[in-house]
Amino acid sequence: MRNFNENTITDAVQDRLTSPTPTRVHDVSAALVRHLHALVREIRPTFAEWETAIKFLTRIGEFCDENRQEFILLSDVLGVSMLVDAINYHAEGRETETTVLGPFFVERAEEYPNGSDISPEISGDALLISGVVCDADGRPLSGATVDIWHSDSEGYYDVQQLEKVDQLAMRGRFKTHDDGRFWCWSIKPAPYPIPHDGPVGDLLKAQGRHPWRPAHVHFMVTADGYEKLVTHIFVAGDPYLDSDVVFGVKDSLIEKLEQRLVGNVRSQTTDRPYWVLNREFRLKCKLDPKGTITG
Ligand code: BEZ
Ligand code: FE
Repeated sequence: MRNFNENTITDAVQDRLTSPTPTRVHDVSAALVRHLHALVREIRPTFAEWETAIKFLTRIGEFCDENRQEFILLSDVLGVSMLVDAINYHAEGRETETTVLGPFFVERAEEYPNGSDISPEISGDALLISGVVCDADGRPLSGATVDIWHSDSEGYYDVQQLEKVDQLAMRGRFKTHDDGRFWCWSIKPAPYPIPHDGPVGDLLKAQGRHPWRPAHVHFMVTADGYEKLVTHIFVAGDPYLDSDVVFGVKDSLIEKLEQRLVGNVRSQTTDRPYWVLNREFRLKCKLDPKGTITG
């Protein structure tokens, strides 16, 4: 077959997808060609515009390294990360809702005993982060793993300023006690702009959008027999709750931080004022492929 034109090229490409058995790659390729061609037909780019699009994607790749994932950022600001999340995780009323993972999760975060300070020597208002991990019916889960990470009081993560903070901070991994509880000390995070000095920032500017996220603390909770929960808790009253650049805010994930002047926290006394973020996390049972609950 030859001599393809605007009307025949899409079918011609689809016809070349000839894997002998239908596979996921085959199906996804067919949908990709269908939708990509439809987009091109709709916008009818000039050669110069198509070259700009290719250069944009090339710059996205060039910005990626060990500490910066510009493709994830692109997916986030286009709402694709939240769409994938919505397709794959359905909280059924009782379970905690999910939101974006974001690019600042670090697999190698250190495990600490409950009550540790994960932000020693980092300036900011003290924050007690505490919570309980439960099943969907509110029964506490002992031995669950809770990863916590957040930005500092100026809105930067440790991995964005490794020259200043010479080790990981404002992040840690905890195990829940028999009563399902975990807790640690840290500092109150601030709202922050996502990294916008690269092609994703240029795109936001061209779209007339700001790059800000409301203040939040990230949580990743895992327990045997339950689905992994990737979520945040957002700080109530934040000015960016209704315009989060990555569309990640859900009402059920907003908490008011309480302020305490001095106190006694699980036999640790503290003489400086602190904020408290306290939250219950309810996990969803894993289903086996037949749809039976395994947890
Ligand atoms: C974050 O919350 O860490 C984040 C999420 C999406 C894009 C950038 C940052
Ligand atoms: Fe974040």
